[in-house]
Amino acid sequence: MQGCSIVFLALFLVACDLQLLSESELSDQNQSQDLVPHYAVASAHPLATQAGIEILKQGGNAFDAAVAVTSTLAVVEPYASGLGGGGFWLLHVADTHQDIMLDGRETAPLASTRDMYVDASGNPTQLSVTGPLAAGIPGVPAAMVHLAENYGRLPLNVLLNFSIEAANNGFAVSEHYQRLASARMATLLRSPQAAAIFLDHGQAPSSGYILKQPQLAKVLVSIRDFGRDGFYTGEIAQKLVHGNQQAGGIWQLKDLEQYQVIERQPITGSYKNISIISAASPSSGGIVLMQMFNMLSMLDINELNALERTHAIVEVMRRAYFERASYLGDADFIEVPVNTLLSMPHAEDLLADYSSQHATDSHNYLRETNMLDDAVLQEGQNTTHFSILDQAGNYVAATLSINYPFGSGFVPAGTGVLLNNEMDDFVIKPGHPNLWGLVDNEANAIEPGKRMLSSMSPTFLDDGNRTAILGTPGGSRIITMVLLSALEFANGADAETMVALLRFHHQFLPDQIQFEMHAIDAMTQTSLTSMGHTLKERQHSYGNMQTIIWDKQMGRVTAASDPRGIGDAKVSQ
Ligand code: DON
Repeated sequence: MQGCSIVFLALFLVACDLQLLSESELSDQNQSQDLVPHYAVASAHPLATQAGIEILKQGGNAFDAAVAVTSTLAVVEPYASGLGGGGFWLLHVADTHQDIMLDGRETAPLASTRDMYVDASGNPTQLSVTGPLAAGIPGVPAAMVHLAENYGRLPLNVLLNFSIEAANNGFAVSEHYQRLASARMATLLRSPQAAAIFLDHGQAPSSGYILKQPQLAKVLVSIRDFGRDGFYTGEIAQKLVHGNQQAGGIWQLKDLEQYQVIERQPITGSYKNISIISAASPSSGGIVLMQMFNMLSMLDINELNALERTHAIVEVMRRAYFERASYLGDADFIEVPVNTLLSMPHAEDLLADYSSQHATDSHNYLRETNMLDDAVLQEGQNTTHFSILDQAGNYVAATLSINYPFGSGFVPAGTGVLLNNEMDDFVIKPGHPNLWGLVDNEANAIEPGKRMLSSMSPTFLDDGNRTAILGTPGGSRIITMVLLSALEFANGADAETMVALLRFHHQFLPDQIQFEMHAIDAMTQTSLTSMGHTLKERQHSYGNMQTIIWDKQMGRVTAASDPRGIGDAKVSQ
């Protein structure tokens, strides 16, 4: 019996291109509905996955592992997330059957003002993108401590150990690092601290270069020893604020002291056979995702051919992103009519002008708003996502960001902490597109203490037998990536298929279907064009999805990391 299981499991793992841990001992697969036969971690960097696996092996739960993975990503993916950034951790607590969203999104500094990024003539400046003024107040350190103290089992000195060693001893940078450092070289060179840490004598380090971050290690040690206070008050806080102000920023000590992680109710809903749990405000993710699902449930896309299906999905994307631009912002500051937005009658209203034959012109909606279509989309290959499942059935999906590659490119002296440029996720000027081409409105205007609207969408899906834990970076395209993979999951797809799926996207403005090479075949492209769609094939692939599937019926756990990235998915026993 044992031999049979081994052969079966080995074949299965080979088929899924998953790695067996060397220390794994194979045993009979557990067929129970309640017990999880394996634990798993999927993240965007092999060292972060290793950190998570180590913690689970030492008896930590999924929340402990999430702290270790978060802190390790902060060291080994400095272009994507970090102590100077924010994120959302979606938690499932097995004991209580609760789903919770931990909101560690950055807040606008208390001295921020609505028009702080426009010049005297009313034109947007680069200050929301580059340098100290671009940085919101970070949430990652507070969220890590909150997770460890409220949900974990192991102390911070165990959980942060791996990341402290990686920061002190260094790690080998990848080609991906090299590319992103080259892309943001000019910005990094503007901050002497950032250039000294992240560049090699003023150049992008080549692949294999050992990057050491002793100052960042000290900040991690301070968090390890003093918890939240180790970052938000005392010496580190003073250095962060002093460095920020010296370079023209507006951070104050009270910004850091007052920062709060918030536990929120996630957005929940269902589509056909699957239930969906995703990010709530200040993310737009869950609401936009559910709006798309609600509309799709009226269009029965499984009955459609490839052209009709693509058209239908694009049209619901367009409408949901229009709603995002019109109504969504930090619900602690503005009234977001969530129940209305998620109601079926509202989905029906949104489809009132839907035609299965023609593209809707996004400009039709502009008569009701002041939005302009001068959006210029830029490539975005950063931010990060990880998924974790432990054997008690706890799981975590977390998407973390400093926004643009290497964030603001600014490091306050003596901290090693690279600050985010998440302030650009606010509307800088109504009708003006942000870095992701998103054209927002009043609901997402800057106010002191407010959280900027996000697209990050850590998500859980369940089809009755299988639970999927997933998410991805990709700026505004995050939500449509999760949608497309969720539609595949609803049709029975496995983790590998979900992460590898070719992607297309529409976000209302600019009024175009963006797609990865080969995501839409040539004939369908021609037909979509004749229906009135504008198509834009992207030069580069996008996204970096990490997915774990726990199949309760079969007693199996599988995990996959996006082939577009350098990440690693591991399943163990
Ligand atoms: O919160 C957001 O929506 C953005 N700051 C995320 C940025 C992102 O995913 C960049 N990745 N390519």
